[in-house]
Amino acid sequence: MAATLLPTSQANTAGLPLPDIYARVSRHVPAIEWPALADDVAAILELKKARNAVILAHNYQAPEIFHTVADIVGDSLALAREAVTVDADVIVLAGVHFMAETAKLLNPGKTVLIPDLGAGCSLADSITAADVRGLREKYPGVPIVTYVNTSAAVKAESDLCCTSGNAVDVVRSLGVPRVLMIPDEFLAQNVQALVPEVEILTWAGHCEVHELFTPADIHAVRESYPGVTVIAHPECPPEVVAESDFSGSTAMMMNFVTEKRPRQVVLVTECSMGDNIAAANPDIEFIKPCNLCPHMKRMSLKNIRHALETLTHEVTVEPDLADRARLAVERMLAVRPR
Ligand code: 13P
Ligand code: SF4
Repeated sequence: MAATLLPTSQANTAGLPLPDIYARVSRHVPAIEWPALADDVAAILELKKARNAVILAHNYQAPEIFHTVADIVGDSLALAREAVTVDADVIVLAGVHFMAETAKLLNPGKTVLIPDLGAGCSLADSITAADVRGLREKYPGVPIVTYVNTSAAVKAESDLCCTSGNAVDVVRSLGVPRVLMIPDEFLAQNVQALVPEVEILTWAGHCEVHELFTPADIHAVRESYPGVTVIAHPECPPEVVAESDFSGSTAMMMNFVTEKRPRQVVLVTECSMGDNIAAANPDIEFIKPCNLCPHMKRMSLKNIRHALETLTHEVTVEPDLADRARLAVERMLAVRPR
């Protein structure tokens, strides 16, 4: 299960005239709204040069960020991988806090900014470092695989990390009969279905966006659109994934759509996913339902501009803790896809 990026040429708009940049988002941004946004886009492109900064944007970012100012776009795994190779003094993470922390762990010498400190994650909030120490005591010797959607403090107590793009490979790479997979209960259950030879112990954390989907949603969409292809993120409940045609990380979902080119597709995930690939795929009809992530949606062109103007909000991790958390992330990055 490997993740890939959109080609950088699709993400990076440096040197493009503003009308060409607008053409990328014209399906989602009415012409009347563009002049106000264009001012921020132009300012951000200048500030990136002046600050020697890059913008890493998650696939859930709104099209007016994803297609206009981002340098690198991708799923959590791709953003972590790319963070290692970034050649810049400043990284702005258009995503949520744990993603910025991961970028900082991998780039201790760089300035990492998050435009809004309130961009959290219900999964990251579902477990503390003390909880992980408690699990360690309760299950001595059982490796702890921690989803990247967690704080650096939780990662620091873990053996290694995983993302939704490599969780199966990470669990198999351990070669043990039992693992703890925290904190996403549904991701762990979905991985369990693919790796029956390993017993996976879970924690009761959920994504507030994906836990809302139900099998009834899928039945309703299949009834209304016979033949529709249903693709679900593995943070969805297992009953939802079981009703789907494909499940994978956000990058894997995008790759599936662009490679298989279904006539009609429903992306059972955050709403911006469909919006971000719709423009380049006018022959594919993207059908709702989808849900918004309130944390991802805290990012805006305005606060990205402000972050670059003022170099705020800087994300820092205490060095000792960072060393331990980095180890867990690096062990994950060393796992080769099978
Ligand atoms: P991906 O790693 O699949 O991009 O998912 C991150 C996330 O937060 C999904 O809710
Ligand atoms: Fe967290 Fe869910 Fe939002 Fe992803 S979609 S950042 S898992 S709350």
